[in-house]
Amino acid sequence: MNRTPSPASPEIRAPFLGYGLGLRPTHYADFLAAPQPVDWLEIIAENYMIQGGKPLAMLDAIRADYPLAMHGVSMSLGSVQPLDADYLRRLKAFAERIEPAWISDHLCWTGVHGVNLHDLYPLPYTEEALKHVVGRIGQVQELLGRRLVIENVSSYLSYADSAMSEWEFLAAIAEQADCLLLLDVNNIYVSSVNHGFDPRAFIDHLPPGRIQQIHLAGHSNIGDFIIDTHDAPIIDPVFDLYAHACRRCGPVSTMIERDDKIPPLAELIAELDRVRQIAADALTSTRIAREAPCPA
Ligand SMILES: [Fe+2]
Repeated sequence: MNRTPSPASPEIRAPFLGYGLGLRPTHYADFLAAPQPVDWLEIIAENYMIQGGKPLAMLDAIRADYPLAMHGVSMSLGSVQPLDADYLRRLKAFAERIEPAWISDHLCWTGVHGVNLHDLYPLPYTEEALKHVVGRIGQVQELLGRRLVIENVSSYLSYADSAMSEWEFLAAIAEQADCLLLLDVNNIYVSSVNHGFDPRAFIDHLPPGRIQQIHLAGHSNIGDFIIDTHDAPIIDPVFDLYAHACRRCGPVSTMIERDDKIPPLAELIAELDRVRQIAADALTSTRIAREAPCPA
């Protein structure tokens, strides 16, 4: 794979797709019955990595009308156990079949010593972990023949060994691994409340040209901390943070992740309309600010 961007073509991101949703089985019938005002869909790769069956048949029908991005939860890039070669081989074969605009997974570990813990655990932000993850992302990118898109996870604990902030760690990974980033704005908000940092500083320290995608979602506030549950509408402070990300990064393909208490499609489309409007306002205000004459 050529990992050196051409000087004549500095844009390394896939094209802007607009505003999308996560494809969920509850909404298959809606997408098949009529065109929906959704620009693109994100699919969870593991839900379709099987031979045949109804989910794959539905996906084949739906993908004829909507661009897809592929999102995985099993790469475990931060683990110290070897990468799962069989999983990666199947992931590549699936990607070749459905031709997603990009492939993403998380900056996390999901298990060790052969035990899958079925959750996305954060890493210690150390030079050792940085080198380890950069090497593993490089292996995956070589295998897939494309840049991987890496998502920040929400977290509820931190490590005494961490020697840098999460955003410094993520920015260093993006540059050293030459990968792209999936900015989960809700995860940034959740972690900022749980750990007490400025969520705007997180966004401001990442390289805008490497932000391929944005996730938005709701969460559960249980008093002492916030949990990333994806079972509720997006709250206003997360929308405010999203507007900040738009002003800093420009147009970025954005989607809503809803994984539990999934409402009728019309409800998510109404929420997506608000996302579009917030992005349009933020991008317009940035353009006006840029074009305003300098004071004499
Ligand atoms: Fe996410």
